Amino acid sequence: MSASRAGGETWAIVVAAGAGERLAADRPKAFVRLGGRTMLAWSLSMLDDHDLIDGIVMVVPEEYEERASLLADDLCATKIAAAVAGGATRPESVAAGLACVPESAAYVLVHDAARPLVPPEVVDRVVAALRAGARGVVPALPLADTVKRVGPDGSVAETLDRSALRAVQTPQGFPASVLRDALAAHAADATDCASMVERLGVAVVCVEGDERAFKVTTPADLARAVQMAGVDEDDEHAHD
Ligand code: CTP
Ligand code: MG
Repeated sequence: MSASRAGGETWAIVVAAGAGERLAADRPKAFVRLGGRTMLAWSLSMLDDHDLIDGIVMVVPEEYEERASLLADDLCATKIAAAVAGGATRPESVAAGLACVPESAAYVLVHDAARPLVPPEVVDRVVAALRAGARGVVPALPLADTVKRVGPDGSVAETLDRSALRAVQTPQGFPASVLRDALAAHAADATDCASMVERLGVAVVCVEGDERAFKVTTPADLARAVQMAGVDEDDEHAHD
């Protein structure tokens, strides 16, 4: 680890403590296999190999801490500092991870293990924006579908201006102090970190996301990831 990195260290928290209810597999989503290794292993190895990342904390379901550490050993990862149990909500899991990030860290990236195929260029863009002074950074893509706001009865209230909308991905990056303040103020059930930071009145900027950073939520998403990773279904079940 480069403790002397100019401008301070950049740490990544990989949140992998969700149950994966919508995927409905026989294990937590991050431990479901994608091409002969777990979904979690994909983003861990990308982050471990990334020159701009100094340290990594994994947040996993209770009783999966040891399994996660073994997985890190298997990957010969050198930057993984801790595997800790997450909480009932994503913000609680992020907070558990942040508690393991050293005070010396200048920036923290929070990444969903459920986005296993995020390419390293997205990390480049997020870190570059932080180093340029941004206090909140999200990778984002324009929407392909028209989006409507609907009422409680399902009737359309409004068609939104698609050109002003973005689908937001991870890793999302923040100065460590900003993320700490956001979690202290709003540890509610936010689905991403940036929304907590926004509520502090901090400006969040978008950088270009990537199709490959899509989130695996349903079985159809997993099939898409298998295809995108270029691994075939046989390989998929070979190590179960
Ligand atoms: N996550 C977490 N702790 C939680 C909930 C979610 O660490 N209590 C993580 C998930 O592991 C995932 C990311 O946050 O990497 C995005 O959440 P989501 O896609 O909703 O995953 P799950 O909560 O596992 O899935 P589901 O909502 O279908 O149960
Ligand atoms: Mg969830």
